[in-house]
Amino acid sequence: MKTILIKNGTVINPLNRRNPVRVADIFIRDGKIAKIKQNLDRPGADIVINAKGKLVTAGLVDMHVHLREPGREDKETIATATRAAAKGGITTILGMPNTSPTIDSQTTVKFVLEKGREEGIVNVLTAGALTKNMEGKELAEIWEMKMNGASMVIDDCAEEQGMRLRRLALEYCKTFDMPILTHPEDADLKDDAVMNEGWAATQMGLSGSPASTESLVVARTLELLREVPTPYHFTHVTTERSVELIREAKKDGLPVTADVTTHHLLLTDEACLNYNTAAKVDPPLRTETDRLALIEGLKDGSIDAIITDHAPHLLVEKFVPFAEAAVGIIGLETLFALAYTELVEKKVLSLPEFFAKLTINPASIIRSDRGKIVEEAIADISIFDPNEEWKIDKNKFQSKGRNTPFHGWKVKGKASEVIVGGELVVKQGELLK
Ligand code: DOR
Repeated sequence: MKTILIKNGTVINPLNRRNPVRVADIFIRDGKIAKIKQNLDRPGADIVINAKGKLVTAGLVDMHVHLREPGREDKETIATATRAAAKGGITTILGMPNTSPTIDSQTTVKFVLEKGREEGIVNVLTAGALTKNMEGKELAEIWEMKMNGASMVIDDCAEEQGMRLRRLALEYCKTFDMPILTHPEDADLKDDAVMNEGWAATQMGLSGSPASTESLVVARTLELLREVPTPYHFTHVTTERSVELIREAKKDGLPVTADVTTHHLLLTDEACLNYNTAAKVDPPLRTETDRLALIEGLKDGSIDAIITDHAPHLLVEKFVPFAEAAVGIIGLETLFALAYTELVEKKVLSLPEFFAKLTINPASIIRSDRGKIVEEAIADISIFDPNEEWKIDKNKFQSKGRNTPFHGWKVKGKASEVIVGGELVVKQGELLK
């Protein structure tokens, strides 16, 4: 394996409380970070990267990605998703189980992890479904999935699920410390809604789902967690009230964490106007008040991580009337630039705070040893040029998906080099694999 020397980069290490931002060199040998030091002299390095003026960080960790494989390889594959991730500076992704078949057994978990090792160019992890076939009726073989490498279990896509089963899941997962991830949305209350309830929906004559669709599930789940505290993660929260509830729960010491998507941080339901199906997503884009509350939640630590919820769909599934269009937005290749432009350029978060939400925090929630830029750690490193301005062009994506509402947006910040397990996979912004 080649040795790599990264020279003069601005190294961001949120774990280093005293000195989280410093100019240093990094030497990589045998897949690991061998040394981080100023003016490191390693004349024999096989590859030397000049990172002057660039941000050198642990590779990003995206804990919510719809890989579509197995079953919908026409939409995305592990090969294409991981190439898209690498281009975006993301070195670890957690796949979601709503594939076909559902990832609800040890066999399907093994399939995704093996395929990830064989065909992925970044680290591929997977979540398993909480219930069999994601039907919300019977718990899946959670222990067996964990034994075969599933990082957590999730009840995604607003599946019907009674409180009795939810409580049972908490009790069962607690016995072997399996974290649960939830997509908080009450399917009954949501009914046939296709976007957020509000004036934009009314204007277009579309059915809307109220914010309580989400906060009701958060509140009820928190009540259960008070009785059975077990690691619990609320994914893609969207409403002001959810953020308040999670903030209170954290203050009370409950073992809860939460994440937010880039699209909920940047857009509101007005993006759906003119029946723009590119902005149709589940949970839906909410109001400006909600958006600002999400940003506040990120700032004060109520929200721990930023995710993509990368959800590729076919063009034809979005080229239909709004009510019938598929839900989802892709994000692997735009995560960094959108978040950086909104949060760092606008001085909402400091660099260490920002990178913590994209590296160490999601890594620790999913119990991964990645997301760290320290000596002895596995060398998953991304180098970003914070000054590169570029225009998002969906036709240039590595992902098979084109469903983004951000096409044509001008953003700042791009991955120039990406290293996974000590191997250079992106050089000067281009994939090497
Ligand atoms: O917008 C979404 N798309 N939300 C989900 O919960 C599922 C996802 C998908 O799989 O397309």
